[in-house]
Amino acid sequence: MLRWGIVGTGDISDRVVSDLIAVEPASVAGVWGRTAERAQAFAADHGVRFATEDRAELFARADVDVIYIATPAATHADIAIEALAAGKHVLIEKPIAESAVDAARIFAAARAAGCFAMEAMWMRFNPLHVELIDRIGSGLLGEVSSVRAGFGTPFRARGRVLTPAQAGSALRDRGIYAVTLSHWFLGEPSRILASGTFEADVDVSGHATLEGRSGFAQLSWSGTEFLDLSASVAGERGWVTIAPMFWAGTRASVHAGSVESIFGSPQAVEHPRAGNGYRPMLIAVADAIESGLLEHPWHTHADTLAVSRAMDQILFEM
Ligand SMILES: NC(=O)c1ccc[n+]([C@@H]2O[C@H](COP(=O)([O-])OP(=O)(O)OC[C@H]3O[C@@H](n4cnc5c(N)ncnc54)[C@H](OP(=O)(O)O)[C@@H]3O)[C@@H](O)[C@H]2O)c1
Repeated sequence: MLRWGIVGTGDISDRVVSDLIAVEPASVAGVWGRTAERAQAFAADHGVRFATEDRAELFARADVDVIYIATPAATHADIAIEALAAGKHVLIEKPIAESAVDAARIFAAARAAGCFAMEAMWMRFNPLHVELIDRIGSGLLGEVSSVRAGFGTPFRARGRVLTPAQAGSALRDRGIYAVTLSHWFLGEPSRILASGTFEADVDVSGHATLEGRSGFAQLSWSGTEFLDLSASVAGERGWVTIAPMFWAGTRASVHAGSVESIFGSPQAVEHPRAGNGYRPMLIAVADAIESGLLEHPWHTHADTLAVSRAMDQILFEM
């Protein structure tokens, strides 16, 4: 059994640790919080046996194999590099860092330490997306010619995030899922056109066209208003629509295979969510580490770096 140390006691840590414990009740060995009180409260809520406000103490523990990092993106690189230097594997919340340069620093540190490192891109392990990647890769739609995806919800809809500065980049927080989806089917873009709005130096909404190997993606994201939260992938033989919320999708419609299913009744694909949706990724990471892998073949360092570079370029164009 792989033993986890948790860095951060916020919203997403709470949801991910609930899924970890559901898979294996004794798998969480310790938690770090910014104050001893928050760390202890989180440990008490989840039945975790060790809590600390000293990260070095968590990273030095012999009963911790892998560190899950769920603090704001600006802190990810330094914390991940600290954990790797202590010989721990790392799973780092999305976005892995605030630039491709920082993402590359993390992966270089992981290689030097001989440890596993991955961005927690749970969408890649979601059973619906796994099926769609497989079927579209096997020619379901022919050559993919377009991707469309949107992720817009007001920051304030999350309740505790009240300002753009607190939420961070809307592109890196929300648009990342759309950019990642586009990379799966169209590869790294050769050209990017982008536009957006900023508040207090934080990008709060935007849209972009990414021209890829066989077509284009039209992507939008926002932290100030709602956007259609669905996505679609189309090609010469039909299209697939992923129902909202596309990044956490459980339902898709396949308009391909016959005239009837293209224009009449599309094929419904459904994969009910287990727990909060993170279990497939957590199980995949544990399997990869136990097999001695240093990166996961479904979400490699190169995959993360390509998306990070695209987001850097989008922000530059905006
Ligand atoms: N995979 C997903 O579905 C998903 C969903 C949402 C967010 N995320 C990602 O998860 C990460 C955390 O998001 P969240 O929504 O959980 O945020 P959150 O609820 O605000 O929690 C952030 C955690 O980091 C701590 N923290 C704040 N500032 C820090 C600093 N400067 N240095 C070290 N720790 C600090 C906070 O401590 P205090 O409690 O003391 O403030 C809290 O424990 C982000 O990268 C975000 O993009 C992923």
